[in-house]
Amino acid sequence: MPVSRRAFLAGAASLPLAARAVSASDPALTLTAAPARLQIAPPDYPATDVWAYDAQVPGRMLRYRQGDEVQLRLANGLDQPTTIHWHGLRLPNAMDGVPGMTQPAVAPGDSFDYRFTARDAGTFWYHPHANSTEQISRGLAGVLVVDDAKGPDVDADEVIVLDDWRMTQEAQIHASFDDWHDLSHAGRLGNYITANGLPDLRLTAAPGDRLRLRLVNTATARIFRLRLSGLRAWIAALDGMPLAQPQEADEVMIAPAQRVDLLADVTAKAGEEAVIGSVERDGTYATAVIAVSGAGGATRPAPAPLAPNHMSDLSLDTARAVALKMEGGAMRGLPDGAVWEGTRMDMRELAEMGQFWAFNGVAGMTDDPLVDAALGETVRIPITNATAFPHAMHLHGTHFREVLADGTLGPWRDTLLVMPDQTREIAFAAENPGDWMFHCHMLSHQKSGMMNWIRVT
Ligand code: C2O
Ligand code: CU
Repeated sequence: MPVSRRAFLAGAASLPLAARAVSASDPALTLTAAPARLQIAPPDYPATDVWAYDAQVPGRMLRYRQGDEVQLRLANGLDQPTTIHWHGLRLPNAMDGVPGMTQPAVAPGDSFDYRFTARDAGTFWYHPHANSTEQISRGLAGVLVVDDAKGPDVDADEVIVLDDWRMTQEAQIHASFDDWHDLSHAGRLGNYITANGLPDLRLTAAPGDRLRLRLVNTATARIFRLRLSGLRAWIAALDGMPLAQPQEADEVMIAPAQRVDLLADVTAKAGEEAVIGSVERDGTYATAVIAVSGAGGATRPAPAPLAPNHMSDLSLDTARAVALKMEGGAMRGLPDGAVWEGTRMDMRELAEMGQFWAFNGVAGMTDDPLVDAALGETVRIPITNATAFPHAMHLHGTHFREVLADGTLGPWRDTLLVMPDQTREIAFAAENPGDWMFHCHMLSHQKSGMMNWIRVT
C-alpha cells in the first residue's frame, strides 16, 4: 500500500506518545478547561493556541476499572460557559453534561462535580456540550477507558485519537465556526489530521504481537476511512460495546464520535512498519505508524470476543415506532414552512437564524420530545436521511441496536452513520430515566438544526 508520509500542512514529526493515564483512585481529580499553547502542527510550524483540558490535547486519558466510582471536577478556565458530556457512558441523567437540560452551564471561573459509576467496560470519550463546534474544534476532548476484570490477552493496549483541524498557514485554528457553507454542507472539515494530537504518531511492536487499538474519532465532521497495512485486524468492539464475534477487517470506517476497538496482530516483519492510513481524496496519509522490531512471536488463532456488557433484551414486537425524517442542507434544502422556535419560516429566514436542517420539519430543539417513553419500553426509530449528506446520529444515555432489513439486530452502538437516501432503524430499551439528547454529531449540523431529545419516565 503506498502511504504518503506528508502531513496535511507539510513535514513529518516523530514524537513519542506521552503517558497520560491517571489513576482512577485519585480522589481530587480536576479537569481544567482553559486556553493553552501546544505544538500540534509539525515542528517547522509555530505552536497552536488551543482550548484544552489541563493543557493537553487530547485531554488526559482517564482510566477506570468496571464498577469504579468516577469522581471528577470540571473547572472552567475559559471565558465562556462549558460542561462535560461523557459520550457513550450509561450514567444518571444529572451527570450527562447537557447545559439547560441536565445541568446549568458552568460559568467561567466556576466548577462542577461529576460523579457516576463506570458501569460498562469499553472505550468512551468526553467533550464539552456547550458551544461544542467551537470548543471541540479548539481541542477540548479526551478519552475515558473502562477496563473489565478479564481483558483480552494482548501485548499492548493503545488509544489512538483521530482529529481533524482547520488550521491557518500559521497553524492557528481557523475561527470560522459559523461558516454558512460548513453549516449547510458536510460540516467543518479540516485541512490537518492528527493522531493523539501529533502529526505523526509512532508506536513500536514486535512481529506477531497482538495489539488492542482503541480508535476514537473526535473530529466534528470528518468521517475517517482507515486502511490498515502490516496488521491482521478484527473489529472487537464498536462505540465501547463488544461484538458477539470479532470481525476481520482491513478497512475501518469511523464517523465523528464513534469508537472502534481493534484486536490487531502485527504481520509486518522486523524492520518493517505497520501503518494505519487515512484514505483521503488525494491519497492515503499515515496517521499512526508502528515500527516493528525484535524477535517474532507465533501466529495466533483469531481472537475470542471481548466480555460483553450487560445489556437489556429488546422486545421488538411490542415496541413503539416513532419515525425521524432528516431534511435540509445544500442541494436539497428544507421543505417549505419548517419551524424554528415555534415559528414557521421560509428557507431564507431560517438561514438568517443559522438554521439549515430539520428533524420532522422542525429545526433545533422542540418543547416536546421526539419520543416520550415509559420506563421499560422498547422504542424503535426509523431514521430517514432525505438530505444529500451523511449524518452521524448519537443518542445519549443508552446504546441502541440497528434493526436490519431481515429483522435481525446489529451491534450495540451509540452513534450511527446514516448515508444519504438511507433509512436505518434503531431500537433501544428506555431504561434510564431522564431527558436525553438525540442529535447529529457532525456538530455544525447539530447547531444548525439537527437536534432533538427523548424523555424517559
Ligand atoms: Cu458526544 Cu451530544 O454528544
Ligand atoms: Cu449531520
